[in-house]
Amino acid sequence: MQPPERLLTGPGPSNPHPEVTKALAAPLVGHLDPFFLGVMDETMANLRTVFGTSNHHTIPMSATGSGGLETIMLNLLEPGDEAVVGIIGYFGQRLAAMAKKAGANVRIIEEELGQIIDPARLEAALNEKPAKLVAVVHAETSTGACQPLGDLARIAREHGALFVVDCVTSLAGMPVEVDATGIDAAGSCSQKCIGAPPGLGPVTFGPRAIEAAKNRTHPTPTWYFDLDLLFQYWGDAGGTKDRVFHHTAPVSSIYGFHKALQLILEEGLEARYQRHRDAHAHLVAGLEKMGLSLFTPASHRLPMLNVVNIPEGVDDACVRKGMLERGIEIAPGFGHLKGKAWRVGLMGYNARVERVDVLLAGLEDVLREQRL
Ligand SMILES: Cc1ncc(COP(=O)(O)O)c(C=O)c1O
Repeated sequence: MQPPERLLTGPGPSNPHPEVTKALAAPLVGHLDPFFLGVMDETMANLRTVFGTSNHHTIPMSATGSGGLETIMLNLLEPGDEAVVGIIGYFGQRLAAMAKKAGANVRIIEEELGQIIDPARLEAALNEKPAKLVAVVHAETSTGACQPLGDLARIAREHGALFVVDCVTSLAGMPVEVDATGIDAAGSCSQKCIGAPPGLGPVTFGPRAIEAAKNRTHPTPTWYFDLDLLFQYWGDAGGTKDRVFHHTAPVSSIYGFHKALQLILEEGLEARYQRHRDAHAHLVAGLEKMGLSLFTPASHRLPMLNVVNIPEGVDDACVRKGMLERGIEIAPGFGHLKGKAWRVGLMGYNARVERVDVLLAGLEDVLREQRL
């Protein structure tokens, strides 16, 4: 097997740092080996820093980002609970679907694609009827929009609701700040701004969320994603250090993730966020020079995921094929934006001006070829 070398500038996976790739090949040990238990503790501690939290219950789930988000919904919601979900694109719809599968009565606050939710709408929804949980997507990968969280978190908490955030695309590329924002539970992924391969779903649960999970009246409707069982393996706060076998942790994946977190902390979170902003600004300037524009209004654009309008007369699939022939991956638009936009990700290791230059040169070349 000889996979091609690609510049992965779609919505993820992104190229891992070469040091992460090396860590994946480190000698395997058992998932209960004392060495690995140390790696687990360090991973939890470093992940807390990246999430901006002191929550003990902070781990990479052995599942992709979706598995982490499902863990949140299945542990915090019970049949008949009220939930409010903000939808500004495809991934908000998924949160609503997960909440429904957990048995909740889900009310939706929806905005047009590219737009964000006005906190007044959440306030009105909760005044009309309280909810146990409010969930939103921080960085909507389908539209490139960034949903500000502070006011939504405050309103949710003032109304006694848990505030849950999908930060799959944002974590480690822009501030999430779980504790300062007032987020009760959040879920992300390994393959975007964290800079590891896909396969892990980092999650964090604050004290209010853990309380809700402990005080359930119905049994948790999942075994693999049951928080109580999971933390018998990962170690509960203040508990014994006895680790009870739950499942065979993906040891090599956690090596890679551990290295990715170490690299993030060595770089410094602020420097990393700035690098993502710089790469984004460089991309936007280059696109504008080529006469291309972004779909998402500048007021709430994400730095790490850019939704680029496809110019009139340009064939979407041909351009993406031409890019791939040059070793560069970009992604099609999602849902209503299919055929109308491309999604260009600058995440983790790829959020670098030099890599943006490679991408821009490739795109210019392909578009020139198409126009001939
Ligand atoms: C905002 C958002 N939420 C959830 C997911 C699902 O994550 P995963 O594919 O790791 O399961 C994605 C994946 O791209 C995403 O962008």
